[in-house]
Parts: sequence; C-alpha cells; structure tokens
Amino acid sequence: MNHVSANLTLYNGVKISGLGFGVWQISPLHTAKCVRTAIKAGYRNIDTAEGYMNEKGVGEGVRQAMEEYGLKREEIFVSTKLWNSHRGYDKAMKAFEELYRDGRIKAIGVSNFLAHHVQALTEDSDIKPMVNQIEYHVGFGQVKSAEYCQANGIVVEAWSPLGSGGVLRNGELNRIAGKYGKSAAQICIRWLLQKNIVPLPKSTHEKYIMENADVFDFSISEEDMTAIDRIPYCGGMMFDPDSARS
Ligand code: A2P
Repeated sequence: MNHVSANLTLYNGVKISGLGFGVWQISPLHTAKCVRTAIKAGYRNIDTAEGYMNEKGVGEGVRQAMEEYGLKREEIFVSTKLWNSHRGYDKAMKAFEELYRDGRIKAIGVSNFLAHHVQALTEDSDIKPMVNQIEYHVGFGQVKSAEYCQANGIVVEAWSPLGSGGVLRNGELNRIAGKYGKSAAQICIRWLLQKNIVPLPKSTHEKYIMENADVFDFSISEEDMTAIDRIPYCGGMMFDPDSARS
C-alpha cells in the first residue's frame, strides 16, 4: 500500500497529511468505497462535513480500511464541519472550543474565512483556529487570505483544488503538465503542495484517486509556478463568503 508524504504540523503540534481526500458531492451510498480506495491509495486525511450527508459513509470507509490494511485510528485524520445555520455561529464556535478542551477533537478549524474574518475571530475567541479551509485552485488563488493565515500559523486547506474539474481543460495548464509528463490534475495538486496549502481533491474514480496522490516524485520549477499563478479564472465556484447566505 502506498503512503503519500509531506506532513504538516498544526500550531498545537498535531501532524496532518499535506494531501487530503475531499468527499463533497460523493453520494452517501458510494462514500465508504471511495474513502477505502483513498486510504488504500495512501491518503491519511479525509475531509467531510455534516452538510455533505455522508459522514456515516466516511466512518464506515475508515473502519473498513483500518481492518483491511491494519491501520490504527490515529493514523487517519478526519475533518468534519458544523453548518453555521445548524447551531448558530456563537454556539458552534463555543462547541468547537469545548470539544477541543475536553480532548474529544484534536484540532479546530474554520472554513471560508477570508483574512478579515480570521482577524476578527482571533480577536474574539480564546483559541485561534488551527486550520482554515477555503476555495483555492488554479485561476482562483485567494492569496491574501492564504498568506494571512500562514503568517499567523494557521494551516490553509484548499477545497475544489481542481476547480471542480473545470480548470483541467485550460490550455496553459495542459502545456505545463505536458512538460512534466503529468496530468493537469497532478499539476494543480502539486502547485498547492508547493505553496504549503493542503489540497483536498475529490474523485469517485479509483484511477483519479490514485493519480491525484501520485504527486511526490517531481516538483514544479519557480518559473512554472509563476506561470500557473498567472492563469486567469477558468473554472470553479469563485465562492464569495462575504456575500454568501446560509
Ligand atoms: P469524478 O468525481 O467523476 O471522479 P474538485 O476536487 O476541485 O472539487 O474537483 C472534483 C472534480 O474533478 C470531480 O468532477 C472529479 O471527477 C474530477 N476529477 C478528480 N480528479 C480528476 C483527475 N485526476 N482527472 C480528471 N478529473 C478529475
């Protein structure tokens, strides 16, 4: 069984794998199988949310993989998220901090926080989040938010690291991918890894799940990193947390 490498250490000392597997939009029926396949492919960081309706499948997939591959629970990092509207923002934040203090969760994080949200939160709470998960992909690099978090010791994770698949058709990206003998998806993922951002690619296909984890045997040159930075918007949600309603 493979093992993807590149661990990151959260500011509280907890280590997480620098590459995760996202399960947004994977149907509850297929989730366990996809998670098992991902763990087989070497992923040790699985990202779900209450609102994805597939937390149960994630649990089943993790359990099956532990049995099948002889892994311990602590070798697999699982993230989930409370929806703001479910509990109320203040209550949810308090609940996160209490669970963390009780030792029932290893780390707390936020999602879709822009730099000014992170700043407001850290002024207002006792425990600074360890992770902020934002939309970040080729053509939509939220540089300001990512840099603010990283400067403050908060690990940035990227949801939709492939721009929901849309960016993979971009000509410039494919030209660069060809130079390295890699797929456009692998370039998207590697580009994020080199920025110390944790990509959370989602796929339901074993071939893609494996391909997306096979990104540790090459590196993108600085010149090509800059060329990729310059690719204009070419897919993905372009989610704006400031105007979003929940
Ligand atoms: P599928 O789920 O059918 O395998 P993101 O992670 O940015 O949200 O992108 C997910 C989308 O990209 C899904 O539609 C997924 O397809 C597709 N995808 C994931 N990995 C690859 C890959 N290596 N090559 C092509 N498409 C991919």
